[in-house]
Amino acid sequence: MFFMFDTLEGYIQPGSVEEALVRQIDFSRLPAHIAIIMDGNGRWARKRNLPRTEGHKAGSESVKEVVEACARLGIKYLTLYAFSRENWKRPKEEVNTLWNLLKDYLADENKILVENDLRLKVIGERKGIPYFVRRELARVERLTRNNRRMTVVLALNYGGRQEIIEAVRKLLKRKVRPEDLNEETFSKYLDTADLPDPDLLIRTSGEMRLSNFLLWQCAYTELWITPVLWPDFRRKDLFQAIIEYQKRERRFGGLNHLTGEDNKNQDNKNQNESTSKN
Ligand code: FPP
Repeated sequence: MFFMFDTLEGYIQPGSVEEALVRQIDFSRLPAHIAIIMDGNGRWARKRNLPRTEGHKAGSESVKEVVEACARLGIKYLTLYAFSRENWKRPKEEVNTLWNLLKDYLADENKILVENDLRLKVIGERKGIPYFVRRELARVERLTRNNRRMTVVLALNYGGRQEIIEAVRKLLKRKVRPEDLNEETFSKYLDTADLPDPDLLIRTSGEMRLSNFLLWQCAYTELWITPVLWPDFRRKDLFQAIIEYQKRERRFGGLNHLTGEDNKNQDNKNQNESTSKN
């Protein structure tokens, strides 16, 4: 069974908490790119005396809910930290469960991605991903490559430092001249070359760390940390994050509160003058 994610109509119950929150969102200033560190699956399971793997299963339901909510809101890019380089240190059974859940997610959701014009993209070191998952990922990426409504980016076997080192390796191999290197050219060597930097980074379960996630790309990203554990994360939490994001003033190292320059001008200016950031 698959279904269309039309608009918010019929998706938000009149008089509900969700409706009250959605009314506070300014749709002309949505974050273009939301990235999420999905944390707390293990704690969620422990609280219920369940094995950790049950926390990951429940977490994959939150993934489905958040993908749908972002698509309906009109978010253009959603990046999910689903498997880090460090996650290999976990017990084998847990690692296997995570990869199997991912394979099941692709099997269950690929029609939803196709029907709803969603593109799947993977960042991270592919060759370390188990073959049975890599094959499915390649299939769904191919199937959805021309979709435009929203890009769902899965960070798999991903590490921010490793991504930067890999970019430097490619630069050296291509003999890029030092004087040709700037922020813009460097970005083109990262896995995220065709993605804008995240505007908003959400981390669940209260930890205040980046955990090697999008280190380069999050230089100016607004961080929003919630104590909610990932399996409990619902669309209302996403709406709350966007509302909080919209309350903040983004200055990118500038002084627009003193000069009176508006944020939009400042945003454009920073895209054009990447070297003036501090
Ligand atoms: C962190 O919780 C979460 C992960 C290591 C993996 C995230 C994976 C999923 C949500 C499921 C599959 C993903 C997709 C895209 C279908 P933790 O185990 O570190 O929690 P803890 O800190 O409470 O122990």
